[in-house]
Amino acid sequence: MRALILNGPNLNRLGKREPDAYGTFTLAELEQELEQFAYANDIKLTCSQSNHEGEIIDWLQQAERQSFDGVVLNAGAYTHTSIAIRDAIASIQVPVIEVHISNVHKREEFRHHSYLAPVVEGQITGFGKDVYFLGLHALLLRNQRG
Ligand code: DQA
Repeated sequence: MRALILNGPNLNRLGKREPDAYGTFTLAELEQELEQFAYANDIKLTCSQSNHEGEIIDWLQQAERQSFDGVVLNAGAYTHTSIAIRDAIASIQVPVIEVHISNVHKREEFRHHSYLAPVVEGQITGFGKDVYFLGLHALLLRNQRG
């Protein structure tokens, strides 16, 4: 299985950024753990992060062109604002799992709405960095069932 972990704006700041909400792990540490998980589960993993909406859209389109089996996407604040990312997800055949490190429903009202939720396979929110591993598990199960 080939999977893409795609992190959006400000997630390069993990470790320094609002540790009460997002924990103290860095993006590099997270990606290293994800690579280990991927290796153990026979997943070919690509990890990417961008602060730019258009670049996230390019990655999603590329995931389809390159026949990825799934994407685990933390679109950060674009979750709550981006119709363009929603349209990109709707335009591709590749399943996308939406993840959030913090439980967005426990936080400010503006984080409760996701433009992406109606077009993704499912949403995993609030389990800290485990959301990425849960997202990969969901893709593995989906892939095994064919
Ligand atoms: C986030 C939640 C978003 O509301 C926020 O803008 C982020 C991170 C999370 O992982 O909990 O940047 O997606």
